[in-house]
Amino acid sequence: GLVNTREMFKKAIEGKYAIAAFNFNNMEQMQAIIQATVETKSPVILQVSSGARKYANQTLLRYMAQGAVEYAKELGCAHPQIVLHLDHGDSFELCKSCIDMGFSSVMIDGSHLPYEENIALTKKVVDYAHQFDVTVEGELGVLAGIEDDVKAEHHTYTEPDQVVDFVSRTGVDSLAISIGTSHGANKFTPEQCTRDANGVLVPPPLRFDILQEIEKRIPGFPIVLHGSSSVPQDLVAVINKYGGALKDAIGIPEEQLRKAAESAVCKINIDSDGRLAMTAAVREVLATKPAEFDPRKYLGPARESLKKLYEHKLINVLGSAGKV
Ligand code: G3H
Ligand code: 13P
Ligand code: NA
Ligand code: ZN
Repeated sequence: GLVNTREMFKKAIEGKYAIAAFNFNNMEQMQAIIQATVETKSPVILQVSSGARKYANQTLLRYMAQGAVEYAKELGCAHPQIVLHLDHGDSFELCKSCIDMGFSSVMIDGSHLPYEENIALTKKVVDYAHQFDVTVEGELGVLAGIEDDVKAEHHTYTEPDQVVDFVSRTGVDSLAISIGTSHGANKFTPEQCTRDANGVLVPPPLRFDILQEIEKRIPGFPIVLHGSSSVPQDLVAVINKYGGALKDAIGIPEEQLRKAAESAVCKINIDSDGRLAMTAAVREVLATKPAEFDPRKYLGPARESLKKLYEHKLINVLGSAGKV
């Protein structure tokens, strides 16, 4: 069945790689994730956001994830390592509902709360979750942009001096941190970037100095990076070529994520890149084959493009291929 993150994270830290956490809210995304993880022999975290629950129904998503385990076996993986995780849980009740329904991992995101309230809420979720061997991700620090319907103008980087206290008092199994990533496809403004010799925009580097300080305080403890899409410019170009209007779409360069994956960062969240891959493929089919009206004719290519993207991440960025 589904597994929690405990063993997976332990191995990832020891092996200096990271596990992909891909968001899903429909069948094609789930199929692409499972196909890519089976073909590359990767462990994977299927994650469900609040928006995904509203869009697709929590019960359906939960049983799709259970189906995903059987699907992975059917595709030839004898012992699938698949986690079903709640992304950005914002209340005890929501986390409890997911735990009671069979999710194997949850995030309680109290990062916007005053510190002591974040601790109290996170501990309450941990105490409940651990009775059922469900693992819990907490968060310290605030990402710039939109997170949990809360909009922040600037990053509030994680304070290394708080992590020992937070981790020991809450009992969380992993910690999401803020070191310069953010959600969505516009992670930096062009003004924040410099240009390389070819005129390509280069975003400011992540705060690896803060990550190192955090690792010093809690050696071997699993760290999570949200907002880790790279926003591939070839996908942005296809979208804009076929009628899209994405402006200043900039992500985290892959070499920085590769470097992060070698550290105690053992979960890397990617959603936006998958959205770009699907949208590019659907736009291209609808624009170049205007007589098509069978959804399979555009969702099929979208699924194929997603699968390629995921395989690339697993093999070349996270380094989790061959670990199952
Ligand atoms: O944390 C953000 C994820 O990309 C999920 O986004 O809330 O639009 O489903 P969503
Ligand atoms: P991206 O928007 O960079 O894909 O981040 C996704 C995420 O952090 C989901 O929790
Ligand atoms: Na790692
Ligand atoms: Zn996130």
